Amino acid sequence: MNRSSVTVAAMVPYEVLVAPALDLTEAVSGALPPGVGVLLTDSTVGPLHATSVAEALKKGGWELIDTVKVPAGEASKSLSIYEEVVRRLARAGLPRGGTLFALGGGVVGDLGGFVASSYMRGVNLVQLPTSLLSMVDSSVGGKVGLDLPEGKNLIGAFLQPCLVAANLDWVDTLPPREISHGLAEVVKMGLLTGGKFFEDLWRFLAPARTGDTGALQALIVHSVRVKAAVVAADEREVGLRSILNYGHTIGHGLEAAATYDLPHGAAVAAGMLGAARLSREIFRTDLLEVHEDLLSAAGLPLKAPAVDVQSVLKAVGRDKKRRTSDQPYEYRFVLLEDVGRPLRDVLVRDTLVRRAIEAILES
Ligand SMILES: NC(=O)c1ccc[n+]([C@@H]2O[C@H](COP(=O)([O-])OP(=O)(O)OC[C@H]3O[C@@H](n4cnc5c(N)ncnc54)[C@H](O)[C@@H]3O)[C@@H](O)[C@H]2O)c1
Ligand SMILES: [Zn+2]
Repeated sequence: MNRSSVTVAAMVPYEVLVAPALDLTEAVSGALPPGVGVLLTDSTVGPLHATSVAEALKKGGWELIDTVKVPAGEASKSLSIYEEVVRRLARAGLPRGGTLFALGGGVVGDLGGFVASSYMRGVNLVQLPTSLLSMVDSSVGGKVGLDLPEGKNLIGAFLQPCLVAANLDWVDTLPPREISHGLAEVVKMGLLTGGKFFEDLWRFLAPARTGDTGALQALIVHSVRVKAAVVAADEREVGLRSILNYGHTIGHGLEAAATYDLPHGAAVAAGMLGAARLSREIFRTDLLEVHEDLLSAAGLPLKAPAVDVQSVLKAVGRDKKRRTSDQPYEYRFVLLEDVGRPLRDVLVRDTLVRRAIEAILES
């Protein structure tokens, strides 16, 4: 199958490469001259894929001075793990012109990106996304960061990678549950975009769920194109880019309330169902069934585990999109007037938000 390539026209443009059996040596050589690097990965992905990646880099003339493995899971997007990683880089002696290769899912990408943005005021970053979620969304666009117990992604920076290289063969080792989590972000982007992408969701979600490479590649390329276009138009999220937070306002609130025990993709799925309810209340367009059908086809649950509604609301209140002028009883949402017609900065009363959250929690 062909290698797909999408250019992200950021201030410094870069390529997102997606292919089965991707030639990593060639991919990296096309983006950067060889130098000194460190490989960051997690305890699940490392044993599966770090050796072949290290070999491909060495073949391209890279000197890998360390491989740092963090525990798999959201808890690694924390200040304490961040400290461990930057200190490892300092001990290994990664120089200013060095490169950090982030091999893993969104957690390794976000953590590694934040490390790369801050260690020695910034080193090069290459994203090697291994989960579907990181291939379709988190590895592209340069948002990097950490969580705090108080809320998701409350620490962060913008650092565009020099390259994103996704080998579709990495998905072969991904548990089906994680494929579904990635598909949550795909559904999000299809709903936001409409048109051919939205039509292709109905066609490709089911085969993608079972690991069909063609379906996966089609959905990844659709998603990356949308993300690249939005990022090119609004790299620093001063406006348009915030539409990508569809489903994330409640989603992030659920994650924080569940003390990050709830996978991001599952939280976003529930968050979109909450947003669909709000859209129905406010615009009278009923997209709830469309959401439910798509999320079911993606193998996602239609409810989130029962958590305390008040803690969800509290975390929603700490959302980064919030402005100081906002009233304490209103929340800012991205909602859908229709498929392909998102509206951002819709202010919604707390009573409505509370009801929407209650409706998506398991009883
Ligand atoms: N920066 C952004 O723009 C952005 C966008 C969306 C999501 N995110 C962030 O991404 C994170 C979620 O990403 P995620 O779902 O990839 O989580 P993750 O990194 O925790 O990966 C999910 C699980 O899959 C495992 N895994 C990954 N690749 C694998 C493979 N090829 N084979 C076997 N196991 C594999 C991981 O070890 C982990 O256990 C969240 O923190 C979220 O906030 C960031
Ligand atoms: Zn997300």
